[in-house]
Amino acid sequence: MTLEARMTLDREYRIAEIDKRIYGSFIEHLGRAVYGGIYEPGHPEADARGFRQDVLRLVRELGVPIVRYPGGNFVSGYNWEDGVGPKEQRPRRLDLAWRTVETNEFGTNEFIEWVRAAGAEPMMAVNLGTRGIDEARNLVEYCNHPGGSYWSDLRRKHGYEQPHNIKVWCLGNEMDGPWQIGHKTAAEYGRLAQETAKAMKWVDPTIELVSCGSSHPNMPTFPEYEAVSLEFTYDYVDYVSLHQYFGNRSGDTASFLASTLEMDHFIRTVKATCDYVKAKKRSKKTLNLSFDEWNVWFHSNEQDKQIEPWSIAPPLLEDIYTFEDALVVGGILITLLRHSDRVRMACLAQLVNVIAPIMTENGGRAWRQTIYWPFLYASRYGRGVALQPVIDSPKYDTSEYTDVPVLEGIGVHDEEREQLTLFALNRSLTDPVTLRCALRGFEGYRVLEHIVLEHDDLKAVNGPDGERVKPHAGGRSQAADGLLEAELPKHSWHVIRLGKRNEP
Ligand code: AHR
Repeated sequence: MTLEARMTLDREYRIAEIDKRIYGSFIEHLGRAVYGGIYEPGHPEADARGFRQDVLRLVRELGVPIVRYPGGNFVSGYNWEDGVGPKEQRPRRLDLAWRTVETNEFGTNEFIEWVRAAGAEPMMAVNLGTRGIDEARNLVEYCNHPGGSYWSDLRRKHGYEQPHNIKVWCLGNEMDGPWQIGHKTAAEYGRLAQETAKAMKWVDPTIELVSCGSSHPNMPTFPEYEAVSLEFTYDYVDYVSLHQYFGNRSGDTASFLASTLEMDHFIRTVKATCDYVKAKKRSKKTLNLSFDEWNVWFHSNEQDKQIEPWSIAPPLLEDIYTFEDALVVGGILITLLRHSDRVRMACLAQLVNVIAPIMTENGGRAWRQTIYWPFLYASRYGRGVALQPVIDSPKYDTSEYTDVPVLEGIGVHDEEREQLTLFALNRSLTDPVTLRCALRGFEGYRVLEHIVLEHDDLKAVNGPDGERVKPHAGGRSQAADGLLEAELPKHSWHVIRLGKRNEP
């Protein structure tokens, strides 16, 4: 049976000008993200700095504008001083977060060089687990102060005459989680983050700060953690963080595809909590959201239990993603775009090898996972003004959710290039959808390209020997007289590009 869905996209129904930083990602000192991932001296594709060029090409293709670093749970036990200066003098340390040995061969300066080579900005996290105000303000001084002080001159001595000018800083990581080294109550964290924020901004008033929110909406302390900690940090920070991971542990794909609705609910609740604190403080400032960890993460959970502790760069969190995971990632991206008025930054966690769109072999090839594709196309065409869609879709129920819309969608208007992109997800596991979308204010627009991510096998995966899951540009759609008609096969994700001119 073919289902029918209707949508309206009006150029005046503006959600917001999208901040390109919602297509950010994340590199943590975890598993093979750094060592064997982005950095592998001796690899045939490595440059003189040890940066794998095959990986850099893929990162650049993804168009990632900002990369969070160095953690994650790792940062809560990290001494940033261990990772700067002559490499032969850097200490080996036990990383308690992932029970591995950190060589510190790669540190802050190497990351800055790498992230700039990737065409991206850094998002730097400071350790508020085992450390505090002093180390954080020193790191800002080391990175951002021009010179003439102890830490800035140390940077210059290390070969970096110009400051790194790191704009975005995270005040710790997941401080609500008992697994975190230096886990803190909301009030403990709030006080420390407030004082750290003050000192960091006194060193460099131009920086932007992210206050830690909950590590998952299922945390028993959510949303109280935000409400309490923001009472301390609200006036000193620019964003609050959200983290969320999804998984199909029960094998119920209909529910898995619907799980992005939880992300929508999570964002709404965090917005409301921020606005409650705003009201309580009689503040004129509206806090934005940094969804700085999101992805599917569950495939590797069992195999990670087998990994011997205290090894260097073991293959941790190496989820191999299926086609259905890519559909969920496509749904997440639509959700982030829907909230682009308040979600101004977001990071796909992570970027290489660790729950990542890009995988590598040590000494060998680099390849694209299934989730690479929705991220690539959202990053490439999801720039401009997000348009609020009006959707009339059939709905379905699952064992976990009721009234799940079969169709998800969002429009993005690139005003300069006079292009409109519709991202759409058909969640039905059995039926195609015929979509009729009224286009208001888009006279003369016609379909330029209809990219489809589809596969018969929901469990299909990619690997170094071949990309079974890959989009094609053979989607069926047409636009005339302000109406777009598109055929969306069962369980598929779409990028329908319309424009006035014949530009690609
Ligand atoms: O991204 C993997 C881990 O997930 C991060 O280190 C942590 O912040 C989160 O729990």
